[in-house]
Amino acid sequence: MPPVDSAVREILEAHGQTHVLRFQDDLNEDERRALLGQIESVDFELVERLVETWVRRQPSPERFERIEPVPVIPPAELGRPDAREAWDAGEEALRQGRVGLVLVAGGQGTRLGFEGPKGAYPIGPVSNRTLFEYHADKIHNVQRRYGCRLPWYIMVSESNDEATQRFFRENDYFGLEPRDILFFRQGMMPCVDADGKLMLEAPGRLAMNPNGHGGCIPGMVDNGVVRDADERGVDTLSYFQVDNWAVKVADPFFLGYHLLRGGEMSSKVHRKNHPRESVGVHCLCDGEYRVIEYTELDIYPQLLELDDDGRLKHFAGNPAIHIISTGFVKRVYDHFDRFPWHCAHKKVPYVDDEGKTVSPEQPNAYKFETFVFDVLRYIGHEPVALEIHRQGEYTPIKQYEGSNSVVAARESMNRHWAEWLEAAGHRVPRTDGGVPAINIEISPRLALWKEEFVGKAAGRSWPMDRDLWIEG
Ligand code: UTP
Repeated sequence: MPPVDSAVREILEAHGQTHVLRFQDDLNEDERRALLGQIESVDFELVERLVETWVRRQPSPERFERIEPVPVIPPAELGRPDAREAWDAGEEALRQGRVGLVLVAGGQGTRLGFEGPKGAYPIGPVSNRTLFEYHADKIHNVQRRYGCRLPWYIMVSESNDEATQRFFRENDYFGLEPRDILFFRQGMMPCVDADGKLMLEAPGRLAMNPNGHGGCIPGMVDNGVVRDADERGVDTLSYFQVDNWAVKVADPFFLGYHLLRGGEMSSKVHRKNHPRESVGVHCLCDGEYRVIEYTELDIYPQLLELDDDGRLKHFAGNPAIHIISTGFVKRVYDHFDRFPWHCAHKKVPYVDDEGKTVSPEQPNAYKFETFVFDVLRYIGHEPVALEIHRQGEYTPIKQYEGSNSVVAARESMNRHWAEWLEAAGHRVPRTDGGVPAINIEISPRLALWKEEFVGKAAGRSWPMDRDLWIEG
């Protein structure tokens, strides 16, 4: 067995991490090389800084003199002149081919516990269509409608890159042009234990996690996404997350508000269901645009205050839907080394000194991540925050049951599509409680908006005594 590269050993010694080599005599050549590659990818200075901040101590919360609600544009309706203007501007940008899509799909999906990439989850209760396919169907619709090509940049991580790309290949890219789909990898961060030591998940493998959805900023620059966008004449990116089944990709309203207001990064927001709902809050902290996490509500109790009418002042929840300009991505790339990091204490399997895998019962590891919304603080313009109704736009799937779940998402989409059918003059069977009594799916290839569906439904009818899948 050749000795470990002396440069690597030196680095590990300098940072007190040589224990990760303790099984090296048992590794074959490929495993040894892979471990060295992982070690070389670690930014040890950064890890030390994070261990000092998060593991040895607890960071003191930032203090702000003033936390104000972010100004919010009410839900867009064509009847309102500003919304009409935004819609027209958004449509124009789509026709001109200025728009691309960024999907972040590099997460580990631990709560859902699904084998395989989260986007391969068969969300459609009738069609069995997967999240990826639903997103692809929306892209088909937008491309057809505006005669444009939407490059689809998909962020994956080391742990799901291969499986994700295979899934796309096996499904023939869902009928989209493979050259318009570009996968790019985000960075990885090592997990550390309570002593700040790197952990091994196998004798020849460090336990690592993707560096958070904030990793899309360096990921897009380092992996040629921004260059590809530049070459295509794309300057405006519609950002969404893989687990939001309902998201309206490349929404003309949202694009238009962003463009007309000179946006670098814009956000959709939704009304929180209740003050303590587990969702980040958009606000202005001493004038700077921030999203404060729900875990920090007790640090900033003003976020729970009600107005004179008993309504939550800070209602703007974060559905993680943005428009980001490519110029802004290039600009904030230079700030990435100053990005705030977040830390989570989690259960991470590791190997003990005998090389056996241990699955801990209690959190034993610290994971470090960056969040994309943290770049909002760098925008050089007034916030652009467009309110949306959750139903039909935001149904994130974090787990099978409960809030933000598969079950909740299906119920929400049943209600949503039932309303479309009723608007088109059909009678949808409902339970005594008023809930649709059948499962309903309407392909986004056919319609993305209620008005579009009503137009296309004219003269058609469907049996309503069984689950319904209306194809594009
Ligand atoms: P979540 O933070 O909900 O994580 O990601 P997750 O991986 O889906 O699920 P859990 O927390 O492990 O249960 C929100 C979105 O951000 C993406 C996810 O793929 C999802 O689309 N994401 C998250 C990344 O692309 N990279 C990351 O490092 C983290």
